[in-house]
Amino acid sequence: MKHIFYLCIIFFSLTNTCFTQTRKENTIVINKNEQNINDLLSTIWEESQTYISKGQVADYIPELSKANKNLVGIAIIDNKGKLYTKGDTQNKFTIQSISKVIALMIAVNERGESYIFERMGYYGTNAPFNSFDEIQTQNKPLNPMMNAGAIVTTSLILGKKEEAYLKILKMIRFITKNESITINQAVYLSEKKTGNRNRGMFYLLKNYGLFEAEDEESLNNYFRQCSIEVNAEDLAKIGYFFAHDCTRFDGDKTYYNPEMSKLINSIMLTCGMYDYSGEYSRKVGFPSKSGVGGGIMGVVPGKYGIGTFNPSLDNHGNSVPGIYIMESLSKKLDLSIF
Ligand code: DON
Repeated sequence: MKHIFYLCIIFFSLTNTCFTQTRKENTIVINKNEQNINDLLSTIWEESQTYISKGQVADYIPELSKANKNLVGIAIIDNKGKLYTKGDTQNKFTIQSISKVIALMIAVNERGESYIFERMGYYGTNAPFNSFDEIQTQNKPLNPMMNAGAIVTTSLILGKKEEAYLKILKMIRFITKNESITINQAVYLSEKKTGNRNRGMFYLLKNYGLFEAEDEESLNNYFRQCSIEVNAEDLAKIGYFFAHDCTRFDGDKTYYNPEMSKLINSIMLTCGMYDYSGEYSRKVGFPSKSGVGGGIMGVVPGKYGIGTFNPSLDNHGNSVPGIYIMESLSKKLDLSIF
C-alpha cells in the first residue's frame, strides 16, 4: 500500500512538472510569435519608407491632394482577434474604392447574386479603375470593383435619397465596431463637384437600363461612400470579417455567411487591385482591395485581416508602400493562398 502511495506521488509530480514545462514552453512560443510579428512589422515599416518617393498623392479629386505623403500605417488582426500595429494606424483617410466591397455585400444581400451579376460581369480587367471601355463593348461593366460596376452596385441598393449610403456607413461601423466613423464632407463635396467622368458614366449606365434613377442621388451615394473616413485598424477589421466567413473580429456572427465571403474574396482577387490584380495575385497571393485615399485592405482566409495606409500611389491607383508591405508580409509569413 505504502509503495502504491509513493508511486502515485512520483507519477503526479512527474506529470505536473511536464505539464508546467509544456505550458511554459507554449507561453514562450506564443510570446515569441507576438514579438516576432511586432519585430517584423517594424522592419517592413522601416523598409517601406523608401517607396514613398516612388508614387504620387491623388489630385484628380482636389481635396485628396492635401494628404500627407509621409504617413505609413500597418495593422494586422490574427485569427484570435488580436491586433498588431505599427506606425500611423490612427490617422484617418477616405476609404474610397474599398467601400465597393461593402456596397457589393449589401446589394447581393438585398437583391441576390444573379440579379446583380446580370448587370455586370465577373471579369478581371486590363483597364484602369475609371475606364469606360467595358461599358461600350459589353453594354455593362466588367466587374463591381471598377467605378462603373460600383456605381451600378450602389444604385441597386434599395432605398431613397441617402439610404444606400447610410446602409454602407452602418455596415462599416458594425464591422469595425467603431461608431465614430463618418463622412469627410470636404472630400465628398470635392468629388461631387469634380466627378464629371463618374457622372458621365452614371448617365451612360442609366442609358443601358442597368438601374432606375430619377435624379443623381445614387451617384451622390457612391461619392458619399467613397468619402467615409477610416484608419488602418478599421481596414484590418474589415479584412478580418471577410477572412472569417463574415464574422466580426470580436466573434459576433450577426452577418455570418461563408458564401458571401467566398464571393467577395474571389472578386477582390481577380479585380480588387484593378489592372495590377494579376501581378498582385502572383506576388502577394491573397484577396485585397485598394483605394485612392491610400488604404489597402487584405484578406488572408481563415487567418489575418490586414490594413495598410500610405497615400503615395502608383499609376494603377494603388499605394506604392502599401503594395510593398503586402508583398513583404506575404513572403515573410507565407500568406499566399496558392
Ligand atoms: O470614383 C473615384 O474615382 C474614387 N471615388 C474612387 C476610386 C478609387 O479609389 C480607385 N482605387 N484605387
